[in-house]
Amino acid sequence: MPPRKPLRPKASLVVRNAVVATCDAGASDPGLIPGAAVAVDDRRIAFVGPERGLEAVVDVEGAQVIDAAGGLVTPGLVDAHTHLVFAGERAGEFALRCSGKSYLSVALSGGGIAATTRATRAASDAALLETAMARARRLLAQGVTTVEVKSGYGLSTEDELRLLRVIHDLAHALWAEVTIVPTLLAHAVPPERAGDRDAFVRELCEVLVPRAAREKLAEHVDVFAEEGAFTLDEARRVLAAGARHGLVPHVHADQLTASGGSRLAAELSCASADHLEEIDDEGIAALARADVVAGLLPLSTLFLGSSRYAPARKLLSAGVRVALATNLNPGSAMSENVGLALSLACLQLGLSPAEALVAFTAGGARALRRPDAGRLRPGADADLVLWGCGSPEHLAWHMAVNHALVVVKRGRVVHTAAAGAAVDCR
Ligand code: NIG
Repeated sequence: MPPRKPLRPKASLVVRNAVVATCDAGASDPGLIPGAAVAVDDRRIAFVGPERGLEAVVDVEGAQVIDAAGGLVTPGLVDAHTHLVFAGERAGEFALRCSGKSYLSVALSGGGIAATTRATRAASDAALLETAMARARRLLAQGVTTVEVKSGYGLSTEDELRLLRVIHDLAHALWAEVTIVPTLLAHAVPPERAGDRDAFVRELCEVLVPRAAREKLAEHVDVFAEEGAFTLDEARRVLAAGARHGLVPHVHADQLTASGGSRLAAELSCASADHLEEIDDEGIAALARADVVAGLLPLSTLFLGSSRYAPARKLLSAGVRVALATNLNPGSAMSENVGLALSLACLQLGLSPAEALVAFTAGGARALRRPDAGRLRPGADADLVLWGCGSPEHLAWHMAVNHALVVVKRGRVVHTAAAGAAVDCR
């Protein structure tokens, strides 16, 4: 009898002739493999490595084959910070800021989060779902396969729960295309509750957080700890309540003022502290000690017309893991432009293109505590992107255009670029 061939998993999809970035080799190393292939067995990665090793590991007969033609293949991007469920627009506010008004002064005069809350409360569920879906699909078309989505424009128990239900419906509708990770966000004290803040915070802790957790509407909890939003003590109470109910805590920290949000994130072992434009050395050391991911959101700094970018180089040097995200929202980052975020991370935050890519993949997955996303290795989620260029450097260099050619989610092709997409690798 001839020797039996070892049993190999049958591949459903194979990408050949690629430069693969596994994003699984540390914060500064994209894990590049030239002449590589990736094979998918249903929804999981079955093989990643030099093409010559492919057929010893998987049976490729009958598989759908994509020829990458020397293009870069990466994990699907993980956008770990968005506020993409909202109604209305803030273009007038944008114009005011262009004429010199600050974000805080516009917010304190009735604009800002309160303005979006009024529009969001007035919108129907169907309208909120439709616009959110369009925004999520714009991210998907640029290679994002996991998106964190926050509530935060309801600002009352019932309105926040309603937004979380819209996020739940969004997750359901997009299940095959994008993973939606739902977060309950305590974003601000609404004007009608300004006179009884303490009771409002108590209601968040004793009613909203428990209901969001019990009804399985949120996996994460986040608080905007900032002048004009929540004090550190209030944020601590909400996050502690979230943790008691099994929600993973995050903080919007040190965005506009050095208010100590990053130290609070460290004290509570949060998964991430996001923004950090005003973080100080003590905050950086605290994040490093507590292994809290730093969420970098450079589109916000640009959009607010500020020059205060988060000190990403210092964070990395201190050993803090970083995540890069869009922060898509109507007030401080009205943009789904993933490529621009990658370029800004290099130009203004001091990351290398490789570090920026890892931050937008494995870094985001770490911030969301999703170890199976954001990296290419056997057993991981089969979420991947074929880009029309051959290196991470090219992605950041050719700025603010969409390089994504093919996006694969859970092992299926869910997006193919239209003719005319940026293709520069062949
Ligand atoms: O992450 N900083 C708080 N939340 C958003 C802005 C929200 C808004 O202005 O509507 C942010 O930047």
